[in-house]
Amino acid sequence: MVDRNGWGRDRPAPTGAPHSPPASFVEQANVSDADVYAAFEDDWPDCWERAAALLSWDEAYDTVLEDDDAPFYRWFPGGKLNASYNCVDRHLESGRKTHAAIRWEGKQGERETYTYRDLYVAVNEFAAALRDLGVEADDVVTIYLPMIPELPIAMLACARIGAPHSVVFAGLSADALATRMNSADSEYLITCDGYYRRGDAFNQKSKADNACLALEHDVRTVVVDRLGDELPHVLGDDEWEYHALREAFAGETVAPVSRDAEDMLFLMYTSGTTGDPKGVVHTTGGYLAHVAWTSHAVLDVKPEDTYWCAADIGWITGHSYIVYGPLSLGTTTVMYEGTPDYPDRDRLWEIVDRNAVDIFYTAPTAIRAFMKWGPEYPERYDLSSLRLLGTVGEPISPRPWNWYREHIGGGECPIVDTWWQTETGAVTISTLPGVDDMKPGAAGPGLPGIDVQVVDETGKEVDPGEAGYLTIARPWPGMARTLYDGDERYRTEYWTRFSDPDADEWRYFSGDTACIDEDGYVTVLGRVDDVIDVSGRRLSTMEIESAITDVDGVVEAAVVGRSDGRTGTDIYAYVSTDGNRDATDGVRTAIVDNVETTIGPIATPTEIVFTPELPKTRSGKIMRRLLADIANDEELGDTSALRNPEIVGEIQTESGDR
Ligand code: PRX
Repeated sequence: MVDRNGWGRDRPAPTGAPHSPPASFVEQANVSDADVYAAFEDDWPDCWERAAALLSWDEAYDTVLEDDDAPFYRWFPGGKLNASYNCVDRHLESGRKTHAAIRWEGKQGERETYTYRDLYVAVNEFAAALRDLGVEADDVVTIYLPMIPELPIAMLACARIGAPHSVVFAGLSADALATRMNSADSEYLITCDGYYRRGDAFNQKSKADNACLALEHDVRTVVVDRLGDELPHVLGDDEWEYHALREAFAGETVAPVSRDAEDMLFLMYTSGTTGDPKGVVHTTGGYLAHVAWTSHAVLDVKPEDTYWCAADIGWITGHSYIVYGPLSLGTTTVMYEGTPDYPDRDRLWEIVDRNAVDIFYTAPTAIRAFMKWGPEYPERYDLSSLRLLGTVGEPISPRPWNWYREHIGGGECPIVDTWWQTETGAVTISTLPGVDDMKPGAAGPGLPGIDVQVVDETGKEVDPGEAGYLTIARPWPGMARTLYDGDERYRTEYWTRFSDPDADEWRYFSGDTACIDEDGYVTVLGRVDDVIDVSGRRLSTMEIESAITDVDGVVEAAVVGRSDGRTGTDIYAYVSTDGNRDATDGVRTAIVDNVETTIGPIATPTEIVFTPELPKTRSGKIMRRLLADIANDEELGDTSALRNPEIVGEIQTESGDR
């Protein structure tokens, strides 16, 4: 194969041996007919009616897709619906009021179950309270809560009255909260007094207070009393306590506001490559239809399941696959407040066993941690209830993929490696677990109806196995509609680079690089910025990292470029190994050998620095920018987004000792 576009690749991305889903899975799968791909293709865009049909509409939509003003597409225009009605009320009407909607597992071992009836009562009372505080349709309500039940309750209460929510991850700083509230002109805030971090009470309210001081407008705040006497707090003017409000509005109901399909359901801020965070706008009809459909077709969720997505609701994964997707289908969604290693490294498996969890969805960074800790933790529990596993958020290389299947999935469970983004709203690339074979290391084909294409600089599709830019050549229902701070930024960020407006040809650019094999399976290589230019050859950091993590004993790796001060770039690799071995020369040699065999000597790291952990953002992504600063002996950029800032000093020392 010719390496035509200079990506330094002349062979398809290495994937592990394929696996077929077990017959027992296929028999019961929500979607098991391979014709689904052709059916969507033949009937596009009307095929998306299947997704819309999973919802209850107050008024039918006029048409499926309106594309006169591309790239500002409108899905299901004319349709009316309410997201809170779809996630709550309709399950009561279908006789499921005593069915568990949310099973909450707190950090201190607390447990709470909300039936659909309990959820209905809570959402209604809180919606009544919000209205009384002055919240009207289209007012943006900011929610700054940790993983406690009041978080989804608040989201659904907002949705009920037509007020878009903007959830800000609880671990973000006061500054980050203030920036987001200012950008959205948000005059309402729902937060809490504090929460537990590894057993200690941690003050959240003081962060919220600091943010409000920095705002250019007044704010009305609701405070959830999470810690009681552990952290006494005093309410100021314009502040109300959540439970007191619930009591004041006990038994009240609020009719769900019928929203246009295209009305905003929520805003979700995500980091941009430059400038302020981007407020990604998601709408009611298309988003909800897409998350319901993918929960059904990809995650195989059934109402009788206990389903667990171990993400945080503060990120898009939690919005789509802890709250809106599973609840719209009327299943039981598990919500876990804690971390996987507290009080011990078996915490997640104890929860799976006790709740007989059917479906488990997490991120590669977590899977690599499980692998590092060793199989003895999952082995303590009965995980045989699991039917399907999922991963999202980063590429997963074959070794952790196989470990996940073997040690968590009992060697049986299919795994869906789901590629999507805050901007795509819901899964866009994945195998359908009841239809497709899985290839460890490749996410899978575009879902039915999603036209995924990998293109070169000129926007032309590349040959199978060649790397290029990951684009989507047609719109899809869950897509972001715009950015809150402007249509123009939306168009430039996503729709300019590979589109031809004069020909009315529009192509969404994801910002990722990828390659597609002969079977249409996509292997994501990383973000565009994660490319190192070595002697004019562009190497994907992800590809080198995958070759490194394939080595026995290696758990995680990040590679960055270091300018050699003249014209070239050297490759620096930061590597963490499992606890069982030191950074021995054996591992070092094995890394070099494997990189040379799988990619070529051009990709061999000049330096390999061993470190106990890699610097990560709070959503678990490796912060390569920081490592690049360290490698280049530059002043460190902003470290406020780091989850483990303490590791930076250690890495600097290690690097200095080279
Ligand atoms: O680079 C891709 C990576 O995560 C990015 C999107 O991040 P975010 O908006 O925070 O949403 C994360 C959860 C949906 C993508 O551009 N990514 C996500 N899923 C995968 C992935 N990379 C490889 N494989 C995946 N399955």
